[in-house]
Amino acid sequence: MAAPLPTAWFNGTYMPIAEVRISPLDRAFLYGDAVYEVIPVFAGQSFLLEPHLTRLERSLRELRIRSPHNRAEWVTLIDGLIRKNGGGNLAVYLQVSRGADVARDHAFPGDHVPPTVFGMAMPISEPHPDRHGIRAITRQDQRWGRCDIKSTALLANILAREDASAAGAGEAILLRNGLLSEGSASSVIIVEKSALLRPPAGPEVLPGTTTDAVFALARQCGLRCGDEEISEKRLRGADEIWVAAATRGIAPVIELDGLPVGNGSPGPVWRQVAAAFEASKTGERAP
Ligand SMILES: Cc1ncc(COP(=O)(O)O)c(C=O)c1O
Repeated sequence: MAAPLPTAWFNGTYMPIAEVRISPLDRAFLYGDAVYEVIPVFAGQSFLLEPHLTRLERSLRELRIRSPHNRAEWVTLIDGLIRKNGGGNLAVYLQVSRGADVARDHAFPGDHVPPTVFGMAMPISEPHPDRHGIRAITRQDQRWGRCDIKSTALLANILAREDASAAGAGEAILLRNGLLSEGSASSVIIVEKSALLRPPAGPEVLPGTTTDAVFALARQCGLRCGDEEISEKRLRGADEIWVAAATRGIAPVIELDGLPVGNGSPGPVWRQVAAAFEASKTGERAP
């Protein structure tokens, strides 16, 4: 992703990102004790904002970090970041950490320590280059047992993504105990006989805002959608594999571990659903 745009949000004010200063005792820095969200913006309008804010509030609740803003305040803060950075196609990044105490102590600080709130905006390419299809690799899922929380502690995701990058691939697809979980930074959907399948919700996967929207659209198109356990064998035998994330949309995987997926080009179900998804972006923007 491209370098951030100049104006950031830091603990209650907009300021040049170059001037943001964060304490070395901040728990995000010391422990990864923080949550985040990434909200896509197309033509200056946020897309699927409500589900992103619902997930942010849930992540905060699950980690027992005090929510620093109510829903209306988040919406205003995000709008300001979009406007002050010139609108267009952006990803708005929000991060909330448990704050900076006066000492390094694993236990939570008291209520006197306020959460640290940071927001920035980054330009995104639209349409995304991944729409032509990406190569992916598989890796063992080495992450912790609460991947449903969007925490900034992403070390295992980072190692998997680096392996993909080094292999010239666009994503690493993670397998845990022989079952598909998700991508290093995306949800994974497979297509079997025109049905869309994804792993069931649970502590081992992040509930994806993009997959939820894609499933709703696919159902409107008359396609069957299901949440099912997907074995490695099923993944490798799928007619189509897609990765989905807020800033990349839905991207067809055309090669997995060096072998073609389907006939090695973006599949017909992807073409149908991706077109509906693109149209929905404009639909949500319409007044
Ligand atoms: C690990 C992981 N799973 C799934 C997703 C997809 O979530 P969303 O569609 O809400 O962007 C992401 C997005 O960044 C992710 O990092």
